[in-house]
Amino acid sequence: MSVLLRVQDDDFKVTPWEVTGRVDYERLIQQFGTQKISKDILNEISKISRGKMHVMIRRDIFFSHRDLDLILKDYAEGRGFFLYTGRAPSLGMHIGHLIPFLFTKWLQDVFDVNVYIEITDDEKFMRNQDYTLKQTSEWAHQNILDIIAVGFNPDKTFIFKDTEYIRNMYPLVTSIAKKLNFSQVKATFGLDASSNIGILFYPAIQIVPTMFEKKRCLIPAAIDQDPYWRLQRDLAEPLGYYKAAEVHSKFLPPLASSDGKMSSSIPESAVYLSDQPKTVEKKIMKYAFSGGQATTELQRKLGANLNVDVPYQWLYYIFEDDDSEIQRIASEYSSGKMLTGEIKKILAQKVNQLLEEHRKKREKSEEAYLRFLYDGKLARQMWERVHS
Ligand code: TYM
Repeated sequence: MSVLLRVQDDDFKVTPWEVTGRVDYERLIQQFGTQKISKDILNEISKISRGKMHVMIRRDIFFSHRDLDLILKDYAEGRGFFLYTGRAPSLGMHIGHLIPFLFTKWLQDVFDVNVYIEITDDEKFMRNQDYTLKQTSEWAHQNILDIIAVGFNPDKTFIFKDTEYIRNMYPLVTSIAKKLNFSQVKATFGLDASSNIGILFYPAIQIVPTMFEKKRCLIPAAIDQDPYWRLQRDLAEPLGYYKAAEVHSKFLPPLASSDGKMSSSIPESAVYLSDQPKTVEKKIMKYAFSGGQATTELQRKLGANLNVDVPYQWLYYIFEDDDSEIQRIASEYSSGKMLTGEIKKILAQKVNQLLEEHRKKREKSEEAYLRFLYDGKLARQMWERVHS
């Protein structure tokens, strides 16, 4: 049985609701009991993707896993698998939220598998006394438009809002809830006697999509969601399902510091998918934490510290796909040939390019909305099914 599932340390903390400090990912792997993505696994995926590996797996942003080797085996031997990820809707999605969706879409393209996307309007509502269901439902709609813009296959993707799809999930939710006891959930999520009972019950609802098919499920998400999967893995087999497999990502840091994760609670430190070019430029130029030196003279002499430089990390993590270009930036910036203002300009341009493409695709999302939620091939099958 899982015991302590939160990592809380003097210098960093990772829970589904909070990430603070400089996260030591090696230590997280040990404490959560997950595995580093090995060279063998990378080679295998590279073969299947014909050498076109996504930047996020090449650069180790997706760095840890459980049972990814078994997923590849199931694929190779024809049993197949499916993908599952999700989102607790909020007023606006930021670039950090996009990471699991971009990677899930890439996996769908490579393996041609079904994707289930859970929109937890219930979770969001129950977690904050100030929110109304009307609000979380409106945010859900807006966030779904952003998710559709990522480009999933409409016949193999089902996006569902918990408050709406619950009717079809409820029998299986009850079987899961019956296997979870109070002290397990309390210990896993650090709840106390004042926590509302909705939050106590909620893990059963985040676990249920891992059992939508009698195949192994692969979940791409940041490592903060891991506690749910630990619970799932304790109860899945007795219920006749596979233990969920996961591929975990690191956190995109906030603009203002290389610690913690980008979060909507500090708006100037996050870049939203709706931010206009001028805003993006201003946020990056003004707030992005720099590992460069305080004066041009010192920068030319000593160069930048890439380990704490946020513009460099963002470029490395997602925005500069080209390996030779990122190497050039690293070498020029760390040697002092490139100045802080220059790397920030490069980043602002790249971010605006991605956001502009995103906005264009998002304009077409409304047209595709019904297919993803109700009448695409997979969506229709899912509405006809009751999960019991
Ligand atoms: P939510 O809405 O907090 O986050 C959505 C997804 O984004 C990831 N994420 C990040 N990834 C990288 N860098 C960041 N700064 C960053 N911030 C957030 C999260 O790990 C998540 O994958 N309870 C969930 C909703 C959910 C879910 C799921 C998530 C339901 N079912 C299955 C993943 C998989 C939530 O609150 O996500």
